[in-house]
Amino acid sequence: MRILLLGSGGREHAFAWKLSQSPLCEKLFIAPGNAGTSHHGTNLNFNVNDFDAIKKCCLDERIDLVLVGPEEPLVKGITDFLISDPQLKDLDIIGPSKAGAQLEGSKAFAKAFMKKYNIPTAAYGEFTLENYKDGVRYINDHELPVVLKADGLAAGKGVVICENNLEALAEFELMIQRAKFGEASKKVVIEEFLQGIELSVFVLTDGKNYVILPEAKDYKRIGEEDTGPNTGGMGAISPVPFADEVFMKNVEDKVIRPTIDGLKAEGLEYRGFIFFGLMKVGDEPYMIEYNCRMGDPETEVVIPRLKNDLLEMLVAATKQELNKVRIEEDERFACTVMAVSGGYPGDYEKGYAIHGLNDIDAAESILFHAGTSLKDGKVITNGGRVLCITSFGNSVFEAVEKSKEELQNISFTGMSYRRDIGYEFE
Ligand code: AMP
Ligand code: GLY
Repeated sequence: MRILLLGSGGREHAFAWKLSQSPLCEKLFIAPGNAGTSHHGTNLNFNVNDFDAIKKCCLDERIDLVLVGPEEPLVKGITDFLISDPQLKDLDIIGPSKAGAQLEGSKAFAKAFMKKYNIPTAAYGEFTLENYKDGVRYINDHELPVVLKADGLAAGKGVVICENNLEALAEFELMIQRAKFGEASKKVVIEEFLQGIELSVFVLTDGKNYVILPEAKDYKRIGEEDTGPNTGGMGAISPVPFADEVFMKNVEDKVIRPTIDGLKAEGLEYRGFIFFGLMKVGDEPYMIEYNCRMGDPETEVVIPRLKNDLLEMLVAATKQELNKVRIEEDERFACTVMAVSGGYPGDYEKGYAIHGLNDIDAAESILFHAGTSLKDGKVITNGGRVLCITSFGNSVFEAVEKSKEELQNISFTGMSYRRDIGYEFE
């Protein structure tokens, strides 16, 4: 099969690494990819939101299957665009329709969906300029802390947890009256703060059947012991020690199955990954958010633990035959530790040479590139999150120690990483 993978992060390097191991994979293209993906296929230089370039590539390279990594092209409708093209009638796409991607593209849509299908989630209200005064009242009457969310995509910055009413009112005004996140904050969801411990659960669905992938936990804050600003994710572990069989059965019964049934009932076309961002409150799972894609850096631990042929699974999804797939997981713990540029998640510089990339102990650890590119045959930094090292171990601690050891071989100007990934499970 000839495959086009869209994206350029660590998630896409993990996908490329896995897909290229499949005997079904004849040719793999990655657009735009990074220095790491070029080891597993051919990088193509166009943007994931350039729909015409994607179509041209599908025709020129006789692509059979497109796997969409990030959310933005999905929310903008890449799947509908490709599927409706008569020149591409044999093409299969892994990624939901624009309507299905609303699960991530609109927080208000996702909350209404959860409410309709009795999926446990925080109580909320939904506000625009029209009912602004009701929003002010809602905030004033709300217990603290209170959570404000821009409805649309806001590059991971659209959620603000407010500790007092004044802060919440100011944030509400910024979002709605002053378009803090542009179109994305014309509508705002205000919701109850959930106290608990987070985890990420992933499903691949064909719209009818689904398979549950290994769960993971990511570490979003820049600083050790979860301090400082949020990032895209500084590391991840899988499996998650507290996600035992009883809890996961609860997740399947209360969250996953109602979601798949809800998509069906609403007539929402969905062939692709669903990322359930969950909070364990007491013993119960609560939905925080859906994403219409895999997580990053969660993919860098989930995919290495998956023993199945990923491409076979994707093909089964395109044929609505996921009921025939049995997931097999590596029993060991996997962790990934992300090395980031100095200044990230604020302003950072790029273009620095990365040293020591060839010194990774391949038997125990895997290097995944994220923000890297090639310049004159050398690998340089090209993003905030630069690369990560995934390692296996018989405990979270053992896996993390291996990744940290390997990271000592790697260096670039301004490099830093969290040394405490998985700290609560030691
Ligand atoms: P999101 O952009 O929806 O992933 O939200 C970012 C982060 O905000 C989540 O990963 C949680 O850590 C936190 N968060 C979002 N909603 C809530 C909530 N209702 N209660 C507590 N924390 C939340
Ligand atoms: N690591 C969280 C995400 O991919 O959104």
